[in-house]
Amino acid sequence: MVDLAYRSLADYKQAKQQASAQPEGFWEDIANQFEWHQKWNKALTFDFHKPEVKWFLGGKLNITENCLDRHVKTQPNRTAIIFEPNDPKETAQHISYKELHSRVCRVANMLKKNGAKKGDRICLYMPMVPELAVTVLACARIGAIHSVVFAGFSAAALAARINDADCIMLVTADGGFRGAKVTPLKDIADEALTHCKSINTSIVLKRTGQEVAWNDIDVWWHEALAEVDDLCPAEIMDSEDPLFILYTSGSTGKPKGMVHTCGGYMVYTAYSFQNVFQYEKGDIYWCTADIGWITGHSYILYGPLAVGATTVMFEGVPSYPGYDRFWEVCAKHKVNQFYTAPTAIRALQKHPVDLVSKHDLSSLKVLGSVGEPINAEAWHWYDDNVGKNNCPIVDTWWQTETGGILITSLAGITEQKPTYATLPMPGIQAVLLDNEGNELVCKNEGILAIKHPWPSIARTIWGDHERYKNVYFSAYPGYYFPGDGALRDAEGNYRITGRVDDVVIVSGHNLGTAPIENALNEHPNVVESAVVGFPHDIKGNALHAFVITKDAVYDNEALVTALRALVAKTIGPIAKPDRIQVVSGLPKTRSGKIMRRILRKLASGEFDQLGDVSTLLNPDVIENIKRNN
Ligand code: WT7
Repeated sequence: MVDLAYRSLADYKQAKQQASAQPEGFWEDIANQFEWHQKWNKALTFDFHKPEVKWFLGGKLNITENCLDRHVKTQPNRTAIIFEPNDPKETAQHISYKELHSRVCRVANMLKKNGAKKGDRICLYMPMVPELAVTVLACARIGAIHSVVFAGFSAAALAARINDADCIMLVTADGGFRGAKVTPLKDIADEALTHCKSINTSIVLKRTGQEVAWNDIDVWWHEALAEVDDLCPAEIMDSEDPLFILYTSGSTGKPKGMVHTCGGYMVYTAYSFQNVFQYEKGDIYWCTADIGWITGHSYILYGPLAVGATTVMFEGVPSYPGYDRFWEVCAKHKVNQFYTAPTAIRALQKHPVDLVSKHDLSSLKVLGSVGEPINAEAWHWYDDNVGKNNCPIVDTWWQTETGGILITSLAGITEQKPTYATLPMPGIQAVLLDNEGNELVCKNEGILAIKHPWPSIARTIWGDHERYKNVYFSAYPGYYFPGDGALRDAEGNYRITGRVDDVVIVSGHNLGTAPIENALNEHPNVVESAVVGFPHDIKGNALHAFVITKDAVYDNEALVTALRALVAKTIGPIAKPDRIQVVSGLPKTRSGKIMRRILRKLASGEFDQLGDVSTLLNPDVIENIKRNN
């Protein structure tokens, strides 16, 4: 077990001090606590204008040796992963570090035997079962770049991601269990693969046992695995070699494949995991996210495993078989650190509180929140009923692009403040900017930006470095621009106020409005559409789609149903708009730009607070939208 943690406020202050005085030495001290085949010869080179960031240059390592082999030496029998199945009647699995190492090596050999090698992209479209974790690590073992696609995405979305990265292999399953539902993953993958030329092999895990169609490129997981052993030396990687690609949506239709690299990502996820959650040897840590999102990559797998922790992996949903599943699992496995999303808290808060109180939650020490701003009511409900006012709450702000948590309190070490993510981690230089890019001082509100690179910043967008530059480094030259607004109190605490671009966070999922509009526009009756977010008491935000149709029939239930299905098919069910409104026109400026600011107000029902409408070309459409709302 590696201990990278500050255990007191004094340690923390000293770290902050060192990090600002000598940022490179600060990160080198942390990086020195890992196993490298060769140490780096330069800690950092960067230029935010280019942009280019490189950490631990010349360093050689394999992240799985740090997550597995070194713990096998010191604590082989400690549980690495506790797998809690969707169905509580199915037995949970406790996988030791030794066992996990063996499974990873064996799957690594299976991937190699089926043609995968260093640098190849492998797509994983799998349910939340241990084999997903094992396959992620197996890719890392052989230096293949994993691209995990969340199992809720549609065939079209999966195909787009496979094609963007030219993946040569797919690892999927017959189906996946999620609550009372079974997702036919193999059927969806088969449909996707009719649009993908790059895949040579598709390895299929048997999870549900359902009937599946079979193609030439398909290989059963259990059959392929039977042909290999578990001896697999780790591929030696350069610190800056890509470790994985993970897609996030943006303000065009095309998803952005964020590229994370081996050395910096390992250092930062381990460092942040250890410090934020104040993990102690033997603790049981549970993050309820899916490995299909960055939270699962960084804080179910890599961060916890890098420090030798025990991490819970849950296949199910918070509502199955009852709305107390989270609390039942916390009690069952004596969970010490529990990390979830505000949307889950708000959904559970609607149910009788004895669903929480009937479970013994006395093992809990730390609670975490991630993915969207946590409102005061949800924060206090979590604090009172789950933490019994006895567990610090860490509200962690970060992104797919940042790789790890950047702004947060450290459990029990720094002060928490409800609805505030609070302070940047030591080593993170956050600032607030005005619209012209000037740094704001003291208590203020503005655009959040980061001034200096940290080790786990995404290095590029796969295949599109120009877009990486445009999205993150062009609006405010010299800074990393995350796309969020924030306010800061007199003590320097940050409160994230929400997105300042065309991304809406729905139930903690990052949804670009452009891809949804593209999907709606595919319908033969749709002329144009605009999608905006509006506040929703459980999801945080929900989507309102304004569509102009050819037939101009305003009350068209059949069309609304068809459009929702179209979005589910093109992107996935998570992107279905809550409301679809047929309108006569969209508010536009003289230059033809849709005035989304006005649409957001209309969608929120704030009809009398439309703000400045002097540049609006067509005021009549507003009256029509209000009338038909
Ligand atoms: C966006 C990133 C962080 C991993 C999961 C989501 C929002 C995230 C917080 C928070 C307020 C938050 C931001 C950010 N967000 N955490 N604690 N408070 N907002 O990753 O899908 O890349 O989304 O989620 O808007 O930019 P993601």
